[in-house]
Amino acid sequence: MSLKFSQLGTRQTESDIARLMTAALQRPELLSLAAGFTDDRTLPLAELTEVAVSLCEEGDRSVLQYGANQGSQKLRKLMTGRLEAQDHAGWSYDLECSFISNGSQQALYLAVQTLCDPGDIVLVEQPTYFVFLEMLRGLGVEAISMPMLRNGDVDKAGLSNVLEAYAAAGNLDRVKAVYLVSYYANPSGHSVSRECKSSLLALLGKFDGTIALFEDAAYRELFYAKPFEAESSLALAGEGNDVPIFYSTTLTKPFATGLKVGFGYCTHGDWLDRMMAVKGQQDFGTANYNQALLAKSLETGLFDRHLGVLRKSYLEKIETLHIHLADTLLAQGWSWTLPEGGLYLWLMAPGDMETGFDSELHQAAIEAGVLYVPGELCNAGRSPRNWARLSFGVLGLEDLKKAADRFCFAVKHTTAMKIS
Ligand SMILES: Cc1ncc(COP(=O)(O)O)c(C=O)c1O
Repeated sequence: MSLKFSQLGTRQTESDIARLMTAALQRPELLSLAAGFTDDRTLPLAELTEVAVSLCEEGDRSVLQYGANQGSQKLRKLMTGRLEAQDHAGWSYDLECSFISNGSQQALYLAVQTLCDPGDIVLVEQPTYFVFLEMLRGLGVEAISMPMLRNGDVDKAGLSNVLEAYAAAGNLDRVKAVYLVSYYANPSGHSVSRECKSSLLALLGKFDGTIALFEDAAYRELFYAKPFEAESSLALAGEGNDVPIFYSTTLTKPFATGLKVGFGYCTHGDWLDRMMAVKGQQDFGTANYNQALLAKSLETGLFDRHLGVLRKSYLEKIETLHIHLADTLLAQGWSWTLPEGGLYLWLMAPGDMETGFDSELHQAAIEAGVLYVPGELCNAGRSPRNWARLSFGVLGLEDLKKAADRFCFAVKHTTAMKIS
């Protein structure tokens, strides 16, 4: 008799990104513009070694002991303080609303898992973070794309109509949350304006606190030149707003991905307690040692100094990629907006050029030796199908140029095939 899996287990399928990674591993000569990894060359190995030595010299063995389920008080204080400074909030964020997670991915999972049942709906931007879409699928939750404005913000009037339609159909109770990737988004590079966040809060405020706002600020600190001016929804909601807000950010991408430490902040105490109960069952606390390394890196200013290094490095990379793509792709009718932060370039191909796994372009790219993420993965309805996400985190400048040339070659080849 074969093993019978739970409903959750049965729903799981191999993730799209795992498929891409397998392809990359089978063909080591492929250059990957697909993985959302950071650059090995700028990981702070020597600096973190010094931090580890100084932790050792202090002789506090508790850093190697289990820690609190909700996370180190010291790190949470540093992170809420950082958030207050970024938001110019004018009031103190509540330490008790915050927690530390195994990367912000775990924080997002806990938030969805404690809020949504199979069949519930989460409204997402178009495009959105495709691993979040995979997570929703895995939990049996339906992702629905919101109407979007041309500037990349959510269309509040359109969303209001969508919610009214759910209400008219008696389905509004299935709608549990709106999910925003609010700074230098994966994949679009877009940052959500203050006006958009405020109007979303006003709209959701009409639903008696039944629809939560998720703000995923994973790339907030990874701007290249200056921070995007909009405060978080936590600051914009202010006190007295009863839209439950779940804000998450991370210490991985802006410092050291391998430490896998994230940060969550939830304005709804009961919801947070339930998340913490599940976290207690999963791991009863994120790695205490990693939290101690990060707290010290933040306290000593190392974290911010290192961010300065990353910002310069990623700016150089996006400029290199842009320059190496521009002549060929613009001539072929492709277009994009240059992001001001983050790790991704989001390209639109001409309408009749599909970019999916089964497309000619994808085949041609693999033949040419380069991997990218088909844009349809980032859309809840798997359409439109003519976008591509290029990540420039991993490759060094020389490989980035080669990868861009290979991508351009694949585009030219595919266009020529279409014409002939
Ligand atoms: C938009 C977004 N949110 C969250 C995450 C999760 O990152 P981590 O678990 O490293 O904090 C990622 C990772 O790529 C991301 O792109």
